[in-house]
Amino acid sequence: MDKILDNIDLNSKAPFDEPDRQYYFMAKCREYVAAKKKELNRPLFFNIKTFGCQMNAKDSEKLTGILEAIGYEQAENEIPDFVLYNTCTVRENANLKVYGNLGNIKKLKKKNPEMIIALCGCMMQEKEVVDKIKKSYSFVDLIFGTHNIFKLAELMYEILTNKKKVYEIFDKNDLVVENLPSVRKYSFKCGVNIMYGCDNFCTYCIVPYVRGREKSRKKEHIIAEIENLVKNGVVEVMLLGQNVNSYGKGLDEKIDFATLLTEIEKIEGLERIRFMTPHPKDFSDDLIRVMKNSKKICKHVHLPLQSGSSRILTAMNRHYSKEDYLNLVDKIRNEIPDVGLTTDIIVGFPGETDEDFLDTLDVVSKVKFDSAYTFIYSKRTGTPAAKMENQVPEDVIKERFDRLLKEVQSGSAYRNKLKEGTTERVLIEEVNSQDKSLCSGRLSNNSIVHFKCNKDMIGKFVDVRLDEAKGFYYYGTIISNDEAVR
Ligand code: SAH
Ligand code: SF4
Ligand code: F3S
Repeated sequence: MDKILDNIDLNSKAPFDEPDRQYYFMAKCREYVAAKKKELNRPLFFNIKTFGCQMNAKDSEKLTGILEAIGYEQAENEIPDFVLYNTCTVRENANLKVYGNLGNIKKLKKKNPEMIIALCGCMMQEKEVVDKIKKSYSFVDLIFGTHNIFKLAELMYEILTNKKKVYEIFDKNDLVVENLPSVRKYSFKCGVNIMYGCDNFCTYCIVPYVRGREKSRKKEHIIAEIENLVKNGVVEVMLLGQNVNSYGKGLDEKIDFATLLTEIEKIEGLERIRFMTPHPKDFSDDLIRVMKNSKKICKHVHLPLQSGSSRILTAMNRHYSKEDYLNLVDKIRNEIPDVGLTTDIIVGFPGETDEDFLDTLDVVSKVKFDSAYTFIYSKRTGTPAAKMENQVPEDVIKERFDRLLKEVQSGSAYRNKLKEGTTERVLIEEVNSQDKSLCSGRLSNNSIVHFKCNKDMIGKFVDVRLDEAKGFYYYGTIISNDEAVR
């Protein structure tokens, strides 16, 4: 990266085309940061806090790449010089967390008055949020959205040189700029965007409003990115999109998600392929066949249910019924018997009756998911559901939520127990945060297992016997280290 930036003429004008323009501003910022470091006689530190989903996690890797190219270092225990919150707004809770954290940052800024405080991500695409921050959190220096994260260097340059606040939000994602630096959180696995945005407009969901229209990336760009990652030590990729199995819509090349997977499978050195999130309405027979025949695609499907009631599913604009969902699960399980199935469920969507809720419980009890994320419906301003009558009272939701959780746990425990005593291939991911003598790894079906192991083995594949099922994770023992396979 330094080499690329060294070759940029800092006295020339900023180029108009991207990504050259951003490389130019990275070089300009780097010059400024170097002078500042000299003046202070210490490094400059940054800290990024990421809220929300894998999309945001991926964006934060890109933001980290830009900041490191500029010359900032990731803060461990130091008071940072640049703080960035990459925000989420999918539920009210996500927003509240950001406001809570901002209070703490204000105190920290007193210790380092030159600290730059920045906010980006999905919450910033909402006008009311930005208005509130300008008014009540005026110590925030920089605000940008989801469609201009590629511009971080240019925006930083403006702040560093003009010392003025910068707020810039684009309301569309028509300019997608790629090939900028990115720093991976894990050396051996990585998320890869295959599309941006969402066109589904589920009536409760704010994502289409804050992430813009669905846009698939060209196959060649995806393949080139993965090939490059593999060259740099990545063995597992997670293909990212809000509706991955509608991949291909709007591209010149006629291609669907199943075909894309077949192409990615051919990449030598790549060991595992995951994807998140498929939509039940677009889960084709072809996709099931490709998964079944693949040696690399993990045996895991995260299949958001949202509700088990056909009536509510229609009101949610999900385009499938309870029966469609159950049939799809049967089809997937018949073809891929050891598949791990996980889901998302919302409790308390407007108008949800006891009967509707019983349908949700019924699906959960029939399917027995390996695990499920359960959410209390959160009203998002601007979505159709926010205006619906019959919002469900809080106490009713709470009671349903607890019942649902019990049903989910009993399903997970059942599934989890089925594999107890078997041996599975596991990718070792990290040292266990609670017990440092253990490492944690992931099975193909996405379950987690903890076992005694040396941290040098992180990123490697091993065979692990699943000794004890603990509900939705296992304790196990390594029985072989098949590093030779890699
Ligand atoms: N595109 C993915 C993920 C979207 S956000 C999908 O279609 O599944 C992740 C999850 O958040 C959703 O699956 C949904 O269960 C939940 N969610 C979204 N909006 C919500 C809201 N307003 N209230 C509660 N949960 C919500
Ligand atoms: Fe939201 Fe539905 Fe799009 Fe998922 S598919 S991001 S739930 S609108
Ligand atoms: Fe949240 Fe944005 Fe993801 S709203 S869930 S971070 S797409």
